[in-house]
Amino acid sequence: MTTLQSSSPIYSLIGTRSQILITVNDVADIVYYGSRLSNTDDNALQQMVIGLERPIPFGRLDSDIPISINPQLGRGNFGSPALEGFRNSGLDWSPVFIVTNVTQEDHRLVIESHDQQVQLNWQTDIKLDSNDILQISQTLMNHGNNDYHVTRYANTVPIADNANEILSFYGRWIKEFQQHRSMLNHGGYIQENRRGRTSHEHYPALIVGDHGFGEDHGQVWGAHLAWSGNHRIRVDVKADGRRVLQAEALYLPGEITLQPQQSLTTPTLYMSYSQHGLSAMSQQFHQHIRTSILKDRLHKPRPIHLNTWEGIYFDHNPEYISAMATEAAAMGVERFIIDDGWFCGRNDDTSSLGDWFIDKMKYPNGLTPIIEHVHQLGMEFGLWFEPEMINKDSDLYRQYPEWLLAVDGYEQPTGRHQYTIDLQNPAAFEYIFERLDHFLSHYAIDYIKWDMNREIVQPAHNNRSAGCKQVAQYYALLHKLNTKHPNVEIESCAAGGGRIDYEVLKHTHRFWCSDNNDPLERQAIQRGMSYFYPPEVMGTHIGSHTSHTTHRTHSMNFRGNTALFGHMGLELDPVKASNDEKQVFRYYIQLYKKWRSLLHTGKNYRLSFNDNTALQGNMVVSSSQSQALISINQLTMPTYCLSGRLYIPGLHSNKNYRITIIDQPENLNKIVNRQPPWLASQQLFNGEWLQTVGLTLPIMDPESSLLLQFKAL
Ligand code: GLA
Repeated sequence: MTTLQSSSPIYSLIGTRSQILITVNDVADIVYYGSRLSNTDDNALQQMVIGLERPIPFGRLDSDIPISINPQLGRGNFGSPALEGFRNSGLDWSPVFIVTNVTQEDHRLVIESHDQQVQLNWQTDIKLDSNDILQISQTLMNHGNNDYHVTRYANTVPIADNANEILSFYGRWIKEFQQHRSMLNHGGYIQENRRGRTSHEHYPALIVGDHGFGEDHGQVWGAHLAWSGNHRIRVDVKADGRRVLQAEALYLPGEITLQPQQSLTTPTLYMSYSQHGLSAMSQQFHQHIRTSILKDRLHKPRPIHLNTWEGIYFDHNPEYISAMATEAAAMGVERFIIDDGWFCGRNDDTSSLGDWFIDKMKYPNGLTPIIEHVHQLGMEFGLWFEPEMINKDSDLYRQYPEWLLAVDGYEQPTGRHQYTIDLQNPAAFEYIFERLDHFLSHYAIDYIKWDMNREIVQPAHNNRSAGCKQVAQYYALLHKLNTKHPNVEIESCAAGGGRIDYEVLKHTHRFWCSDNNDPLERQAIQRGMSYFYPPEVMGTHIGSHTSHTTHRTHSMNFRGNTALFGHMGLELDPVKASNDEKQVFRYYIQLYKKWRSLLHTGKNYRLSFNDNTALQGNMVVSSSQSQALISINQLTMPTYCLSGRLYIPGLHSNKNYRITIIDQPENLNKIVNRQPPWLASQQLFNGEWLQTVGLTLPIMDPESSLLLQFKAL
């Protein structure tokens, strides 16, 4: 059995700030994943390996068992194994793999292992890029003469044993990305998502760190599984105190069978390590998204949207919609999107999904006149689809009832009165593609809002389980559409934020974070999301003054500044807005246009305050550190009558900054005898001073926001 030996080959993956050391004996083991080391010559690494040899206590197996990248039952790993499977009659269920080959190319290591007896090959692909993002995936290949059934196949990353706190995410419709902290001393944490889409409830990610980690301090390891289906993520504290993180797609019974020479690859696990807390961890994720996932796909400034949904719902009248477009353009909107309700028979949410033909009753002249009108006004045009879905009350279902994703002979509960289409059915797949392609080929459509409003029950193709294949076919559909229409942008929406993950972002350009446009709720939702995503992919709309989901009323100041830290838009009826309201919308639209290039390229920080539950702050700094934009959001009543200090990270310690108020609550100076004088002083402040000594915070009413510019002189 394997033990660490002084002669163990050791491989090093080096990022800009982080480093991973992997020893290879019979198995490969991550023995270090932390900050970048300065001395990593061969000699130093060998010394380190000797220093890491573990004692062997009484009362356990007689040899040391590494957790390894591929923990195996047959090797005496008593935790969750990375692979579970078998051949017919229950054979070959406990393979023991031996590393046969390791290849390294700069930032990437490929480790191959083999079990001669069961004729399986296991390849681990592990990369650490210059943005300090670790990507790891596994591929299993069946070299045997008969089928191998896989029930589980996971990515496993051993992490440091001081990782004793977890930040995980929970949520629901209209309340996505809520944060939960828990301790990780014994046992562990596990989350499972069986809802068939990425889900509002179990965002596939978590962050572990040392005790009390925060925005600007502590060691943190952020982990995200890029997968839009069912998943399991766990972090275990072994009985000996070692920690291990594992993330996998969940396979339904009988779903994965590898025929001879077939292979299976796991979704990719993305990780970001920082020794300086959460903001630095997020900046690495953000940079990775910008440079490696989006690449140059967001080549133009993120246009300001107007989406019709909360303005008119299903009440479509082309003249009225044209008037909405006219008003939108006059306020400075750059992309106009017609939401649900435009296609055959769709008057409410009980029917017609699947019938992707223009409703001639509502649009007797078709969509072309509106699209031309929108384009003449200088805006892009977008259209809503929910391609994977079908209502039983639809012509499509009446013609092809067998296209339902279901197990024959059973009823299943509907979600929003609808069902899912089996994307593995080639005719169904082609029909959906043809319909989307038709619209994109015959109409000047620049943007699709791609929705998915129900969870999946009974994902079956020909009655066999097909949860993962349904997800893979969804990616294939997106891929086919992107290939044919590379200039069309796509938003991923699933009843708000039900399908937000890195894999879907490879095929799309923006996420609809939530159906909740109440800025107070949005502050929490967007903050949770910001751990993993930069503002330019977060769809953030200003809704009407009274929120349609919470029925709370908010000032324009709070609504505007909350939507500003994302890809901004409006979600309302501009025809009904008063002149005063339109003027204010115009003002926030201009503000967004002025600041979007900084917001969408700069480094983002989440600010920390002493009164952290009442106050929340966002900041973005330019790469040259010459300019920053900060929003200070008072969420609830301040705990104390003074709000403490504002400490500003990320500025240049040798530069002096002039502070200007960009936007403020209307009553800022009316609710106190005096606000801090620096606010109005035009005084210069030194970057180091701002970070370490800070500024006194103003006193603000709940649900209001202050926007400040810091400009270096
Ligand atoms: C979902 C979306 C909304 C809207 C409706 C239309 O709920 O999240 O934004 O598009 O569907 O039915």
